[in-house]
Amino acid sequence: MINKTPGFLSEDIFNYLDKFDTPTDDLLLAIESFALQNRIPILSRQSAKLLEFLVSVQSPDRVLEIGTAIAYSAIRIARTLPEDSKLDTIEISKNNYSLASDFVKRAGLQDKINIVLGNALELLTTWKNTYNLIFIDADKRDYPLHYHNAKKILNPGGIILIDNLLWKGRVTRDSQDVEKEKSIAILKQFNEDFIKDREVQSLILPVGDGLGLALKKESKNED
Ligand SMILES: C[S@@+](CC[C@H](N)C(=O)[O-])C[C@H]1O[C@@H](n2cnc3c(N)ncnc32)[C@H](O)[C@@H]1O
Repeated sequence: MINKTPGFLSEDIFNYLDKFDTPTDDLLLAIESFALQNRIPILSRQSAKLLEFLVSVQSPDRVLEIGTAIAYSAIRIARTLPEDSKLDTIEISKNNYSLASDFVKRAGLQDKINIVLGNALELLTTWKNTYNLIFIDADKRDYPLHYHNAKKILNPGGIILIDNLLWKGRVTRDSQDVEKEKSIAILKQFNEDFIKDREVQSLILPVGDGLGLALKKESKNED
């Protein structure tokens, strides 16, 4: 069972919607359960459905994901993609890479999902592919750089989706924990810049842990 945190919803509304969002297949339920037991953060069900919706709307040839973890969102993206489209997904942890590879094999999606082991911050500086959809779900402190790199390889009219922009509501509170406070400060500044970024049309939704959506404008100078 996935972590039943209502996020920014009341318990009642969360439970009501979660009935619509509960996956019906055993593999996704097994991954959710594995993630919960092993404290591996994965996308909320509602966020995953929104991501699938965007995949359907964009119908992209290729999608990029930064932060595979154990391939929960990767499998959901790949299953929604058109037949000949592919997902590139980057994961820095060897352990997660290996778990993700196993789950992708169990899903029978080895031909559709290209898992790359490495640091996206380094890899994306020389990346060759461009995308109509990029999903960023990695270390919050690196979001400014991931976003900067992602925008460079995003086609005009392409969409970036970013998770955790409200970080359990921490962006609205002070923390006594020095390390957390540093991450909160980075995230708060990132959100300000993200919303003011004139290269995109952007918004932050209180879905899951806070989802940022950016649509790249056709021209840099356009308002
Ligand atoms: C929140 S999890 C991703 C969850 C996954 N997208 C899902 O919903 O199923 C974040 C992952 O990003 C990986 N990560 C963090 N920094 C990274 C980087 N610079 N490059 C690649 N992966 C990174 C972490 O190891 C972790 O597995």
